[in-house]
Amino acid sequence: TPLETRLQEVRMAVADGAAEIDIVINRTLALTGQWEAMYDEIRQFREACGDAHMKTILAIGELGTFTNVYKASMVAMMAGSDFIKTSTGKEAVNATYPVAIVMMRAIRDYFLYTGYKVGFKPAGGIRTAQESLVWLNLVKEELGNDWLCPHLFRLGASSLLADIERQVRTHACCKVLCTYSAPHPH
Ligand SMILES: *[C@@H]1O[C@H](CO)[C@@H](O)[C@H](O)[C@H]1NC(C)=O
Ligand SMILES: *[C@@H]1O[C@H](CO)[C@@H](O)[C@H](O)[C@H]1NC(C)=O
Repeated sequence: TPLETRLQEVRMAVADGAAEIDIVINRTLALTGQWEAMYDEIRQFREACGDAHMKTILAIGELGTFTNVYKASMVAMMAGSDFIKTSTGKEAVNATYPVAIVMMRAIRDYFLYTGYKVGFKPAGGIRTAQESLVWLNLVKEELGNDWLCPHLFRLGASSLLADIERQVRTHACCKVLCTYSAPHPH
């Protein structure tokens, strides 16, 4: 949909009480190096969001290079994003560790430049409790303990909850530590 329509949708959602808004960057602007135009567009969303938290999805699977991922991360943060998020979950490529590290280093650099902490949210294709622990470790290593809280780190993963419940149940009921429950076949 056109930019003005999306801005209007955001304003209406916020007026209806939304406290969190997800937006997606325009990949064409990144792929053609129009960083200022991207900044201006995200600024408009920032204004439309008002006090609502704004998460900016970079769609990293479609950005081509690490350099583009770093620049898009920086532009999104400079334009006022509260979070940068890897993927919508609908791209062919989801959150991958190498690209996520580039985003986290951009967050760290931005913090060193400005003192402002921006959150990180990997999303798409994260399915197991084991994988969530890898993400937790990466965030701790790259950004430190301050980021290990919900206002700076979240996982976007609708199928992850079922696996966490399964692992918790296994440990609580069977008292067998060090086992990992396989999902039930559907
Ligand atoms: C993305 O940016 C390009 C280049 O300015 C523009 O042609 C296109 O309409 C934009 N896409 C959306 C969905 O706004
Ligand atoms: C990406 O994530 C979505 C949503 O979780 C999933 O349906 C899709 O299969 C994933 N794609 C890849 C390539 O892992």
